[in-house]
Amino acid sequence: MERSFGLLLVLITLVIIHIVQAQDQNGFISLDCGLPEYQTSPYNEASTGLLFSSDKDFIQSGKTGRVQENPKNYLEPYLTLRYFPEGKRNCYNLSVDKGRKYLIGASFVYGNYDGRDIKPVFDLYLGPNLWATIDLQRWVNGTREEILHIPTSKSLQICLVRTGTTTPAIAALELRPLRKNSYITQNGSLSLVFRRYFKESGFTLRYMEDVSDRLWVRFFMKEWTQISTNLTMKINNNYVPPEDALKNAATPTDTSAPLTINWSSESFSEECYLYAHFAEIQDLQANETREFNILLNGEHYYGPVIPKKLDITTVENVTPKTCQGGVCSLQLTRTNRSTLPPLLNALEVYRVIQFPQSETDESDVDAIIEIAATYALNKTNWQGDPCVPEQLRWDGLNCKNTEMSTPPRITSLNLSSSGLNGNIVAAIQSLTKLKKLDLSNNNLTGEVPEFLGNMESLSFINLSWNTLNGSIPQSLQKKGVELSVEGNPRLCLSDSCRKPSKKKFPMAIVASIPVAIVASVFIVVLFLVLRRKKSTVVKGLHLPRTPTEEVTFANKNSKRRFTYSEVIQMTNNFEKVLGKGGFDMVYHGTVSGSEQVAVKVLSQSSTQGYKEFKAEVDLLLRVHHTNLVSLVGYCYEGDHLALIYEFLPNGDLKQHLSGKRGRFIINWSTRLQIALEAALGLGYLHIGCKPPMAHRDVKTANILLDDNFKDKLSDFGLSRPFQGGGESQQSTVIAGTPGYLDPEYHHSGRLGEKSDVYSFGVELLEMITNQPVINQTNDNSHITQWVAFMVNRGNIIEIMDPNLSKDYDINSAWRALELAMSCANPSSSKRPPMSQVIQELKECIVCENSGIRNNQGLESEDMNIDLDTSVVPRAR
Ligand SMILES: *[C@@H]1O[C@H](CO)[C@@H](O)[C@H](O)[C@H]1NC(C)=O
Ligand SMILES: *[C@@H]1O[C@H](CO)[C@@H](O)[C@H](O)[C@H]1NC(C)=O
Ligand SMILES: *[C@@H]1O[C@H](CO)[C@@H](O)[C@H](O)[C@H]1NC(C)=O
Ligand SMILES: *[C@@H]1O[C@H](CO)[C@@H](O)[C@H](O)[C@H]1NC(C)=O
Ligand SMILES: *[C@@H]1O[C@H](CO)[C@@H](O)[C@H](O)[C@H]1NC(C)=O
Ligand SMILES: *[C@@H]1O[C@H](CO)[C@@H](O)[C@H](O)[C@H]1NC(C)=O
Ligand SMILES: *[C@@H]1O[C@H](CO)[C@@H](O)[C@H](O)[C@H]1NC(C)=O
Ligand SMILES: *[C@@H]1O[C@H](CO)[C@@H](O)[C@H](O)[C@H]1NC(C)=O
Ligand SMILES: *[C@@H]1O[C@H](CO)[C@@H](O)[C@H](O)[C@H]1NC(C)=O
Ligand SMILES: *[C@@H]1O[C@H](CO)[C@@H](O)[C@H](O)[C@H]1NC(C)=O
Repeated sequence: MERSFGLLLVLITLVIIHIVQAQDQNGFISLDCGLPEYQTSPYNEASTGLLFSSDKDFIQSGKTGRVQENPKNYLEPYLTLRYFPEGKRNCYNLSVDKGRKYLIGASFVYGNYDGRDIKPVFDLYLGPNLWATIDLQRWVNGTREEILHIPTSKSLQICLVRTGTTTPAIAALELRPLRKNSYITQNGSLSLVFRRYFKESGFTLRYMEDVSDRLWVRFFMKEWTQISTNLTMKINNNYVPPEDALKNAATPTDTSAPLTINWSSESFSEECYLYAHFAEIQDLQANETREFNILLNGEHYYGPVIPKKLDITTVENVTPKTCQGGVCSLQLTRTNRSTLPPLLNALEVYRVIQFPQSETDESDVDAIIEIAATYALNKTNWQGDPCVPEQLRWDGLNCKNTEMSTPPRITSLNLSSSGLNGNIVAAIQSLTKLKKLDLSNNNLTGEVPEFLGNMESLSFINLSWNTLNGSIPQSLQKKGVELSVEGNPRLCLSDSCRKPSKKKFPMAIVASIPVAIVASVFIVVLFLVLRRKKSTVVKGLHLPRTPTEEVTFANKNSKRRFTYSEVIQMTNNFEKVLGKGGFDMVYHGTVSGSEQVAVKVLSQSSTQGYKEFKAEVDLLLRVHHTNLVSLVGYCYEGDHLALIYEFLPNGDLKQHLSGKRGRFIINWSTRLQIALEAALGLGYLHIGCKPPMAHRDVKTANILLDDNFKDKLSDFGLSRPFQGGGESQQSTVIAGTPGYLDPEYHHSGRLGEKSDVYSFGVELLEMITNQPVINQTNDNSHITQWVAFMVNRGNIIEIMDPNLSKDYDINSAWRALELAMSCANPSSSKRPPMSQVIQELKECIVCENSGIRNNQGLESEDMNIDLDTSVVPRAR
């Protein structure tokens, strides 16, 4: 077991290192938004070799979803998305090189990830400036916004801003550094209108054909003729389009006609920049020439052009151009001396986009972020630029923002009632334009810092209702500063400490309530608490070894104690075996003539078994929950130990899944219900029990079902308390069932509720897939490996138990699967607590029972519609 886990980790690490070294994607940022935790990050996108990583380190908010409609039309990075049900503005924060030119691409897909078929419309912001409105009601298959932009600071904020009732979502963010002397504008950034190469058939080109990963979409018109070459070309200007784009060109079929390309502009005043790439790719005879002029909207734009043989010429405009009437028309017309028609290999058109609003002063931003980090502030709208746009300004701030071209400054900071702990943070003094500071109603301690008095603009300070001590610094006792410090009992305000100008304060007496009294009260309370705690633990753990001591746990409850001969009688001399455990046999029995029971008889003289017996009796005597199997009684007579439980006639879940109980298949919605009930049982052990217990042997074989498929968790033989227990948690023998055993607990021996969460995750995967937990025919691979492998192929139908006959809602299936995988995360800190698991399962059930079946259209394997490549291109 241990070895195979170790090996797996090593393999994963090696693969990652290998991938990183294989590609030169210097400066590229490729974020697959909403990539689930359990999927490998970073990973190599198969068709481009681009190294994509999860976006989780670049944004604090949002939830993850997965495209449900036509998933085959999207490349992997655009298949998952992050959506933002909360907050008006949610921002990515990316580290960039200030002053370097980047191509920034943001891709948006809806794909009915939530099964509600509500396509969102929202705004995209770059820092404080509107970049674009994303309308997925118009672009139902997704859209991509792309700009060429030079960041003005070391971090770039890309924000999704809610504008209506729909939920913003994003699929991918891609940044590519560009060459310095390319795409130069007078001012403003460039937003892509289109980028095309001219060929009758072919795919969208991008990385690795294009070193800068620009997307070149193929385009051709019926009045054109294609020419091509197979020869190597010289492409050494600042633009370096892909060679595959330049090897083809369009010429007008009517050789005397011009070559025309028309497009519409968004507005009449729109300014644009054109980059037309030419290269002669035909073998010209001595008496042949190709020469043409370029006209834009009927006016001479450039020329004449004589394309160089197999060598690139890029025609660009120095000043921006506008198109009259909203239509732009580019025409290439041959000159009188030309014997050949004009040609065009590739064309890029951008429009100028202005980002006029300056970002907030960089040192103010750094200071406020440090303040937020120091106090671990949890403010949902503290994202993006602190001051602008004004309607999205951070709570508690006020700013001076007069002209768009000057960086706004923070003038007021109000962190009143924000649960602040610790000292007054020094970063405040970096807010050099601060006028008002309100830190009242917090738990601030330490002294009132000297620097507050040295901040020139600061004229209003409220520090009242904190736990500050010391005295008021001299520097603050100056004219023009309004200072409030009431409600700080330990602050010395007496004359000897010098009194500030106007306010009255409660005297220091309050604080001098004899410390000794407080301390001794505290000690007594502590003693009582510890004592109480200890006694619970003792009660919880010490089951007597000899029958005489046994009274201590037997008397207190109504459970019946049976003699061994009664056990023989009730099982009809151990006639019918129900099951066999590690140290015990389980028999069918009857008590009081009618009540059916399951009798677990401990095999004799097994110390290990005795301990488990002890633990189980102890636990079952204390816990009562409808989803935990209940104890009817027990036998404790010499070496004869037996536990008598309620009998669940429908066997265990493992038997059902494996088909051992006939052909009856538990349907998907019942499976979800069973999972929820098991989770409720576990949640009770983790949260409801004192001390909290870990079950340690969660598996499908321990989920018993009654007539109505309500389930009960059984087999508490391995259960142990995991907090405040008398036993050191480390010293407990590692126990559990291979395959379900938490690898981290296995290594560290540290027991916690998250170990059960792991086992629960494995069990849930089993319920979803009906695959073996450990596949002996396949190299002993674990079910999580199998699922991770299958998830990468993206087809839920291949993952789900085929016995379910596709009768389930795709969304609820994905949700359950993602939940199971997050539970079975190798790292315990990444597993959700049982309370969250319960919540997720409830939502899954709602989703499943909402009646909307979401698996239509996914069934035909040969469906392979080409996505409109101008949208989110599927490269090759
Ligand atoms: C963005 O990230 C950079 C470094 O990664 C950090 O210095 C900066 O404070 C962050 N900005 C915000 C607004 O979180
Ligand atoms: C979206 O894609 C489907 C095929 O998957 C296609 O039929 C439809 O026309 C596309 N819609 C748009 C607006 O591009
Ligand atoms: C930038 O372009 C706009 C529109 O063409 C113009 O009004 C403005 O003066 C320009 N700014 C600079 C700094 O050149
Ligand atoms: C280029 O090569 C392919 C196959 O190698 C051939 O079919 C094609 O005709 C060639 N094109 C030109 C322009 O030589
Ligand atoms: C392009 O636009 C021009 C001017 O608006 C028009 O005369 C011409 O017919 C258009 N050509 C095509 C191919 O659309
Ligand atoms: C160019 O010369 C070739 C013979 O070398 C001749 O066949 C062709 O017609 C000439 N083309 C033109 C446009 O004069
Ligand atoms: C090209 O020929 C046309 C008539 O055929 C004439 O009007 C025009 O001036 C000529 N242009 C040049 C640059 O010679
Ligand atoms: C932050 O606050 C929100 C509610 O305002 C709460 O739901 C969330 O759990 C808090 N997060 C943390 C890390 O405290
Ligand atoms: C700070 O905010 C609180 C409410 O959160 C308000 O009562 C108080 O007046 C504000 N302080 C200032 C200086 O505006
Ligand atoms: C200060 O902390 C205590 C416990 O540490 C808490 O009960 C109290 O509510 C806190 N006060 C404020 C104003 O946050």
